Amino acid sequence: MKVLIICFSQTGNTRKVAECIQEWIKEVTDSCELIRLEDVNKAALAGYDLVGIGFPVFYYKEPFHISDFIETLPLLRGKQWFVFCSHGSVLGMTLISMTERLEEKGITVIGSHHTYADASLPFYPYPTVTTGHPDDQDLQEAVEFGKSIAACSMTVAKGNTDCIKRPAPITEDWVPEQSALLTQEFMDKAFPRLSINTETCTQCGECQDACPVDGIDIEAEPPRIQDLCIYCWNCAKICPTCSIETDWTAMDGLAPSQYEKYIKALNDAEARGEFRWRVDPDSMNYDDPLHKQRERQLKEDKK
Ligand SMILES: Cc1cc2nc3c(=O)[nH]c(=O)nc-3n(C[C@H](O)[C@H](O)[C@H](O)COP(=O)(O)O)c2cc1C
Repeated sequence: MKVLIICFSQTGNTRKVAECIQEWIKEVTDSCELIRLEDVNKAALAGYDLVGIGFPVFYYKEPFHISDFIETLPLLRGKQWFVFCSHGSVLGMTLISMTERLEEKGITVIGSHHTYADASLPFYPYPTVTTGHPDDQDLQEAVEFGKSIAACSMTVAKGNTDCIKRPAPITEDWVPEQSALLTQEFMDKAFPRLSINTETCTQCGECQDACPVDGIDIEAEPPRIQDLCIYCWNCAKICPTCSIETDWTAMDGLAPSQYEKYIKALNDAEARGEFRWRVDPDSMNYDDPLHKQRERQLKEDKK
């Protein structure tokens, strides 16, 4: 049995989960490769008996470039896939939406899995409400998922589809509307545009390498952020000189009200036995978002 796991991971959470799933699948199959999204050879996908795809949740669904990736796949009729993701608080439409997208390509989605994980956004305080995840239990659950998905795949290959599980329905009633609102077109209009401060940018290229959609041209004079953006803010989070700039005021102001919803979602997840508090939610300092922390650290380092 030939298995492939495709993973997109910026801060390493989804990658950890992917490695746990791979570990078990490897125990029971001949081969289980784990590759990065950007290394996928689409033409070779039909040669696998089972393919898994993992990524972080962005804006209550799969990141825009993941849906674009699925859109450009060839028809893979009858092929077995599974989906997994890591996320901070609200899983949203992700597993449902991905299952539907893959089914449009003729793929049979045999199962899906989600893991609570640390989340960092420039306009949120850090540490955040899910810092400390994935914890040992989350990772053990990923191993268990790997076990069950490998077994299910073999059963389905023999014609018995009883083990196939559809993703659970969403629990938060506000999610479908919010998720539908946050399209890439909407964000292009409503979200703050990032720019590069050419006074402080050293053209080190870290942002360009980290941009999942090749949206930064660091060699240009002056270096520039092109129109293509999936609003992951990764460039702003990693730039060593904090040279990717914008006016965060509106986003900083929005963060506390968003957190109320996230804390409710996490309390509900705790009640379902899916989540454990590792950080006291009352300790969140909304006046100290990550972008301010980074700028302060940079000043300290310069002293
Ligand atoms: C731009 C952005 C949007 C996010 N949106 C959500 C979201 O809607 N729901 C959620 O639970 N977590 C959200 N998160 C948190 C990530 O899903 C979480 O940190 C994930 O584990 C990151 O995965 P990685 O370490 O593999 O990159 C978001 C993170 C970023 C950077």
